[in-house]
Amino acid sequence: MKILLTGANGQLGRELVKRLKGTEFLATDAAEMDITDPAGTLRVIGSYQPDAVIHGAAYTNVDAAEGNPEAAYKVNAVGTQNVAAACLKYGAKLVYVSTDYVFDGTLGRAYNELDRPNPQNVYGKSKHAGEMLAHHILNELFIVRTSWLYGDGGNFVRTMLKLGQERDEIKVVDDQHGCPTWAADLAEAILRLLKTEQFGIYHAANAGVATWYDFAKKIFELSGNSRVRVLPQTTAELSRPAPRPAYSPLENLMLRLTTGHALRPWEEALREYLAGLKHITA
Ligand SMILES: NC(=O)c1ccc[n+]([C@@H]2O[C@H](COP(=O)([O-])OP(=O)(O)OC[C@H]3O[C@@H](n4cnc5c(N)ncnc54)[C@H](OP(=O)(O)O)[C@@H]3O)[C@@H](O)[C@H]2O)c1
Repeated sequence: MKILLTGANGQLGRELVKRLKGTEFLATDAAEMDITDPAGTLRVIGSYQPDAVIHGAAYTNVDAAEGNPEAAYKVNAVGTQNVAAACLKYGAKLVYVSTDYVFDGTLGRAYNELDRPNPQNVYGKSKHAGEMLAHHILNELFIVRTSWLYGDGGNFVRTMLKLGQERDEIKVVDDQHGCPTWAADLAEAILRLLKTEQFGIYHAANAGVATWYDFAKKIFELSGNSRVRVLPQTTAELSRPAPRPAYSPLENLMLRLTTGHALRPWEEALREYLAGLKHITA
Protein backbone atom coordinates (compact mmCIF):
# COMPACT_ATOMS: atom_id res chain seq x y z
CA MET A 1 0.00 0.00 0.00
CA LYS A 2 1.42 3.41 -1.03
CA ILE A 3 1.00 5.87 1.86
CA LEU A 4 1.35 9.65 1.91
CA LEU A 5 1.85 11.33 5.30
CA THR A 6 0.95 14.91 6.19
CA GLY A 7 2.58 16.45 9.26
CA ALA A 8 5.51 14.02 8.88
CA ASN A 9 7.79 16.16 11.09
CA GLY A 10 5.29 16.16 13.96
CA GLN A 11 5.30 13.74 16.90
CA LEU A 12 2.96 11.26 15.27
CA GLY A 13 4.52 11.77 11.83
CA ARG A 14 8.00 10.84 13.07
CA GLU A 15 6.72 7.59 14.59
CA LEU A 16 4.90 6.73 11.36
CA VAL A 17 8.03 7.43 9.31
CA LYS A 18 10.04 5.02 11.53
CA ARG A 19 7.48 2.27 11.00
CA LEU A 20 7.08 2.82 7.26
CA LYS A 21 10.82 2.59 6.49
CA GLY A 22 11.32 -0.06 3.82
CA THR A 23 7.81 0.42 2.39
CA GLU A 24 6.57 2.77 -0.31
CA PHE A 25 5.61 6.08 1.30
CA LEU A 26 5.96 9.85 0.90
CA ALA A 27 6.55 12.01 3.98
CA THR A 28 5.28 15.57 3.62
CA ASP A 29 5.17 18.53 5.97
CA ALA A 30 4.35 22.20 5.34
CA ALA A 31 7.44 22.69 3.12
CA GLU A 32 6.51 19.86 0.72
CA MET A 33 2.73 20.24 0.85
CA ASP A 34 1.04 23.15 2.61
CA ILE A 35 -2.42 21.74 3.18
CA THR A 36 -3.95 25.22 3.25
CA ASP A 37 -3.09 25.51 -0.47
CA PRO A 38 -5.77 23.51 -2.34
CA ALA A 39 -3.97 23.50 -5.71
CA GLY A 40 -0.65 22.47 -4.17
CA THR A 41 -2.33 19.73 -2.14
CA LEU A 42 -4.04 18.36 -5.26
CA ARG A 43 -0.76 18.51 -7.17
CA VAL A 44 1.30 16.60 -4.60
CA ILE A 45 -1.35 13.95 -3.91
CA GLY A 46 -2.12 13.68 -7.64
CA SER A 47 1.50 13.16 -8.62
CA TYR A 48 2.18 10.54 -5.89
CA GLN A 49 -1.18 8.71 -6.31
CA PRO A 50 -1.20 7.12 -2.83
CA ASP A 51 -3.59 4.34 -1.82
CA ALA A 52 -3.96 6.06 1.56
CA VAL A 53 -3.20 9.38 3.21
CA ILE A 54 -2.49 9.57 6.95
CA HIS A 55 -3.28 13.17 7.80
CA GLY A 56 -1.55 14.21 11.02
CA ALA A 57 -0.78 17.82 10.03
CA ALA A 58 -2.58 20.27 12.29
CA TYR A 59 -2.49 23.57 14.07
CA THR A 60 -1.91 22.08 17.53
CA ASN A 61 -1.22 25.09 19.78
CA VAL A 62 -4.42 24.98 21.84
CA ASP A 63 -3.92 28.29 23.66
CA ALA A 64 -2.68 30.22 20.61
CA ALA A 65 -5.73 29.00 18.65
CA GLU A 66 -7.99 30.77 21.13
CA GLY A 67 -6.62 34.17 20.07
CA ASN A 68 -6.27 33.28 16.40
CA PRO A 69 -9.26 31.17 15.34
CA GLU A 70 -8.78 31.89 11.63
CA ALA A 71 -5.30 30.34 11.66
CA ALA A 72 -6.62 27.23 13.45
CA TYR A 73 -9.63 26.84 11.13
CA LYS A 74 -7.48 27.44 8.07
CA VAL A 75 -5.26 24.44 8.84
CA ASN A 76 -7.56 22.11 10.79
CA ALA A 77 -10.82 22.64 8.89
CA VAL A 78 -9.99 24.02 5.41
CA GLY A 79 -6.67 22.15 5.24
CA THR A 80 -8.45 18.89 6.04
CA GLN A 81 -11.10 19.69 3.42
CA ASN A 82 -8.31 20.17 0.86
CA VAL A 83 -6.69 16.86 1.78
CA ALA A 84 -10.06 15.03 1.68
CA ALA A 85 -10.96 16.56 -1.72
CA ALA A 86 -7.63 15.40 -3.16
CA CYS A 87 -8.22 11.89 -1.70
CA LEU A 88 -11.64 11.79 -3.38
CA LYS A 89 -10.20 12.88 -6.73
CA TYR A 90 -7.34 10.37 -6.70
CA GLY A 91 -9.11 7.47 -4.98
CA ALA A 92 -7.11 7.40 -1.73
CA LYS A 93 -8.41 6.35 1.69
CA LEU A 94 -7.96 8.96 4.40
CA VAL A 95 -6.99 8.67 8.06
CA TYR A 96 -7.78 11.98 9.79
CA VAL A 97 -6.27 12.29 13.25
CA SER A 98 -8.51 14.16 15.69
CA THR A 99 -8.69 14.88 19.40
CA ASP A 100 -10.46 14.29 22.73
CA TYR A 101 -11.00 18.07 22.78
CA VAL A 102 -14.02 17.55 20.49
CA PHE A 103 -15.79 16.60 23.75
CA ASP A 104 -16.92 18.98 26.51
CA GLY A 105 -15.76 16.72 29.35
CA THR A 106 -19.04 16.77 31.29
CA LEU A 107 -20.21 13.18 30.68
CA GLY A 108 -18.61 11.77 33.84
CA ARG A 109 -17.20 8.67 32.13
CA ALA A 110 -14.75 7.89 29.30
CA TYR A 111 -16.06 8.88 25.87
CA ASN A 112 -16.66 6.24 23.24
CA GLU A 113 -17.15 6.77 19.52
CA LEU A 114 -20.94 6.94 19.83
CA ASP A 115 -20.88 9.90 22.23
CA ARG A 116 -21.76 13.34 20.92
CA PRO A 117 -18.98 15.90 20.38
CA ASN A 118 -19.42 19.35 21.87
CA PRO A 119 -16.06 21.13 21.66
CA GLN A 120 -15.42 23.99 24.06
CA ASN A 121 -12.28 25.62 22.69
CA VAL A 122 -11.27 26.92 19.25
CA TYR A 123 -8.78 24.11 18.65
CA GLY A 124 -11.44 21.47 19.43
CA LYS A 125 -14.02 23.24 17.29
CA SER A 126 -11.63 23.51 14.34
CA LYS A 127 -10.66 19.81 14.61
CA HIS A 128 -14.33 18.84 14.83
CA ALA A 129 -15.02 20.98 11.73
CA GLY A 130 -12.24 18.96 10.02
CA GLU A 131 -14.02 15.73 11.00
CA MET A 132 -17.31 16.91 9.55
CA LEU A 133 -15.82 18.26 6.33
CA ALA A 134 -13.87 15.04 5.70
CA HIS A 135 -17.01 13.04 6.46
CA HIS A 136 -19.06 15.02 3.90
CA ILE A 137 -16.45 14.42 1.19
CA LEU A 138 -15.29 10.83 1.70
CA ASN A 139 -16.73 7.42 2.41
CA GLU A 140 -13.36 5.70 2.75
CA LEU A 141 -12.48 7.62 5.90
CA PHE A 142 -11.06 6.72 9.29
CA ILE A 143 -11.38 9.42 11.94
CA VAL A 144 -8.93 8.51 14.71
CA ARG A 145 -9.25 10.55 17.90
CA THR A 146 -6.37 10.55 20.34
CA SER A 147 -5.25 12.57 23.36
CA TRP A 148 -2.35 14.01 25.39
CA LEU A 149 0.29 12.88 22.87
CA TYR A 150 4.00 12.64 23.60
CA GLY A 151 6.79 11.37 21.39
CA ASP A 152 9.68 12.86 19.45
CA GLY A 153 9.07 16.60 19.83
CA GLY A 154 8.14 19.20 22.40
CA ASN A 155 5.63 17.67 24.82
CA PHE A 156 4.56 17.48 28.46
CA VAL A 157 6.98 14.67 29.37
CA ARG A 158 10.00 16.54 28.06
CA THR A 159 8.83 19.76 29.72
CA MET A 160 8.53 17.97 33.08
CA LEU A 161 11.96 16.32 32.72
CA LYS A 162 13.50 19.72 31.98
CA LEU A 163 11.68 21.47 34.85
CA GLY A 164 12.74 18.62 37.12
CA GLN A 165 16.39 19.54 36.48
CA GLU A 166 15.77 23.21 37.25
CA ARG A 167 13.33 23.25 40.18
CA ASP A 168 12.59 21.50 43.46
CA GLU A 169 8.83 22.07 43.25
CA ILE A 170 6.45 21.99 40.29
CA LYS A 171 2.74 22.80 40.34
CA VAL A 172 0.64 20.70 37.97
CA VAL A 173 -3.09 20.73 37.17
CA ASP A 174 -5.04 18.07 39.05
CA ASP A 175 -8.60 18.65 37.80
CA GLN A 176 -8.31 17.68 34.13
CA HIS A 177 -8.51 13.95 33.37
CA GLY A 178 -7.45 12.24 30.18
CA CYS A 179 -5.34 9.51 28.59
CA PRO A 180 -1.63 10.24 28.11
CA THR A 181 -0.76 8.54 24.82
CA TRP A 182 2.61 7.62 23.31
CA ALA A 183 2.72 8.57 19.63
CA ALA A 184 4.47 5.24 18.88
CA ASP A 185 1.46 3.25 20.14
CA LEU A 186 -0.89 5.50 18.17
CA ALA A 187 1.17 5.04 14.99
CA GLU A 188 0.95 1.25 15.33
CA ALA A 189 -2.80 1.37 15.94
CA ILE A 190 -3.30 3.55 12.84
CA LEU A 191 -1.25 1.26 10.60
CA ARG A 192 -3.14 -1.78 11.91
CA LEU A 193 -6.48 -0.07 11.29
CA LEU A 194 -5.49 1.01 7.80
CA LYS A 195 -5.15 -2.64 6.77
CA THR A 196 -8.88 -3.09 7.40
CA GLU A 197 -11.71 -1.70 5.30
CA GLN A 198 -13.65 -0.89 8.47
CA PHE A 199 -14.05 2.83 7.90
CA GLY A 200 -15.50 4.98 10.67
CA ILE A 201 -14.68 6.77 13.90
CA TYR A 202 -12.11 5.30 16.31
CA HIS A 203 -10.69 6.34 19.64
CA ALA A 204 -7.02 5.40 20.00
CA ALA A 205 -5.48 6.42 23.32
CA ASN A 206 -3.44 4.52 25.89
CA ALA A 207 -5.71 2.83 28.46
CA GLY A 208 -6.45 4.22 31.93
CA VAL A 209 -7.12 7.69 33.25
CA ALA A 210 -4.78 10.30 34.69
CA THR A 211 -4.71 13.95 35.61
CA TRP A 212 -1.73 16.03 34.48
CA TYR A 213 -0.63 15.84 38.13
CA ASP A 214 -0.77 12.00 38.11
CA PHE A 215 1.08 12.02 34.79
CA ALA A 216 3.83 14.31 36.16
CA LYS A 217 4.25 12.21 39.32
CA LYS A 218 4.62 9.05 37.25
CA ILE A 219 7.18 10.75 34.96
CA PHE A 220 9.39 11.59 37.97
CA GLU A 221 8.87 8.20 39.59
CA LEU A 222 9.79 6.27 36.43
CA SER A 223 12.72 8.53 35.58
CA GLY A 224 14.15 8.11 39.11
CA ASN A 225 13.83 11.75 40.16
CA SER A 226 12.70 11.56 43.79
CA ARG A 227 13.97 15.08 44.62
CA VAL A 228 11.31 17.17 42.86
CA ARG A 229 7.97 17.74 44.66
CA VAL A 230 4.87 17.79 42.47
CA LEU A 231 2.06 19.91 43.89
CA PRO A 232 -1.55 19.87 42.68
CA GLN A 233 -3.00 23.00 41.12
CA THR A 234 -6.47 23.82 39.76
CA THR A 235 -7.22 24.82 36.17
CA ALA A 236 -8.60 28.11 37.50
CA GLU A 237 -5.30 28.83 39.27
CA LEU A 238 -3.31 28.17 36.10
CA SER A 239 -5.60 30.44 34.04
CA ARG A 240 -4.81 29.46 30.43
CA PRO A 241 -6.54 31.16 27.45
CA ALA A 242 -8.30 27.99 26.19
CA PRO A 243 -10.87 26.15 28.32
CA ARG A 244 -10.15 22.41 28.54
CA PRO A 245 -12.51 19.49 29.20
CA ALA A 246 -12.38 18.36 32.84
CA TYR A 247 -12.89 14.68 31.99
CA SER A 248 -12.14 13.48 28.45
CA PRO A 249 -10.57 10.01 28.58
CA LEU A 250 -11.18 8.08 25.35
CA GLU A 251 -12.46 4.52 25.47
CA ASN A 252 -11.03 2.48 22.56
CA LEU A 253 -14.35 0.68 22.03
CA MET A 254 -14.46 0.45 18.23
CA LEU A 255 -10.77 -0.38 17.93
CA ARG A 256 -11.27 -3.30 20.30
CA LEU A 257 -14.40 -4.50 18.52
CA THR A 258 -13.01 -4.29 14.98
CA THR A 259 -9.30 -5.10 15.34
CA GLY A 260 -9.43 -6.97 18.66
CA HIS A 261 -6.71 -4.63 19.88
CA ALA A 262 -6.83 -1.65 22.22
CA LEU A 263 -3.85 0.39 23.35
CA ARG A 264 -1.92 -0.72 26.47
CA PRO A 265 -2.08 1.11 29.84
CA TRP A 266 -0.51 4.58 29.76
CA GLU A 267 1.98 3.79 32.55
CA GLU A 268 3.48 0.90 30.53
CA ALA A 269 3.85 3.05 27.43
CA LEU A 270 5.43 5.87 29.46
CA ARG A 271 7.93 3.46 31.02
CA GLU A 272 9.09 2.30 27.57
CA TYR A 273 9.24 5.87 26.23
CA LEU A 274 11.39 7.02 29.17
CA ALA A 275 13.69 4.01 28.81
CA GLY A 276 14.20 5.02 25.16
CA LEU A 277 15.01 8.61 26.14
CA LYS A 278 17.62 7.39 28.65
CA HIS A 279 19.16 5.31 25.90
CA ILE A 280 19.39 8.39 23.63
CA THR A 281 20.91 10.65 26.32
CA ALA A 282 23.21 7.97 27.81
N1 LIG B 1 -0.35 16.72 20.56
C1 LIG B 1 -1.44 16.29 21.21
O1 LIG B 1 -1.48 16.26 22.46
C2 LIG B 1 -2.64 15.83 20.44
C3 LIG B 1 -3.78 15.42 21.15
C4 LIG B 1 -4.89 14.99 20.43
C5 LIG B 1 -4.87 14.97 19.05
N2 LIG B 1 -3.77 15.40 18.39
C6 LIG B 1 -3.78 15.38 16.91
O2 LIG B 1 -2.82 14.41 16.51
C7 LIG B 1 -2.21 14.83 15.28
C8 LIG B 1 -0.70 14.77 15.44
O3 LIG B 1 -0.31 15.61 16.52
P1 LIG B 1 1.21 15.93 16.80
O4 LIG B 1 1.35 16.16 18.27
O5 LIG B 1 2.06 14.94 16.11
O6 LIG B 1 1.32 17.35 16.09
P2 LIG B 1 2.61 18.26 15.91
O7 LIG B 1 3.80 17.62 16.53
O8 LIG B 1 2.22 19.64 16.29
O9 LIG B 1 2.82 18.18 14.33
C9 LIG B 1 1.92 18.77 13.45
C10 LIG B 1 2.63 18.93 12.13
O10 LIG B 1 1.73 19.56 11.20
C11 LIG B 1 2.48 20.49 10.46
N3 LIG B 1 1.66 21.52 9.86
C12 LIG B 1 1.10 22.61 10.48
N4 LIG B 1 0.47 23.37 9.57
C13 LIG B 1 0.62 22.76 8.36
C14 LIG B 1 0.21 23.07 7.04
N5 LIG B 1 -0.47 24.18 6.76
N6 LIG B 1 0.53 22.21 6.05
C15 LIG B 1 1.23 21.09 6.30
N7 LIG B 1 1.69 20.75 7.52
C16 LIG B 1 1.37 21.57 8.54
C17 LIG B 1 3.45 21.08 11.47
O11 LIG B 1 4.52 21.70 10.81
P3 LIG B 1 5.21 22.99 11.50
O12 LIG B 1 5.81 22.51 12.77
O13 LIG B 1 6.20 23.40 10.45
O14 LIG B 1 4.10 23.98 11.73
C18 LIG B 1 3.88 19.83 12.24
O15 LIG B 1 4.99 19.19 11.65
C19 LIG B 1 -2.77 16.22 14.99
O16 LIG B 1 -3.79 16.10 14.03
C20 LIG B 1 -3.36 16.69 16.30
O17 LIG B 1 -4.44 17.58 16.13
C21 LIG B 1 -2.64 15.81 19.05
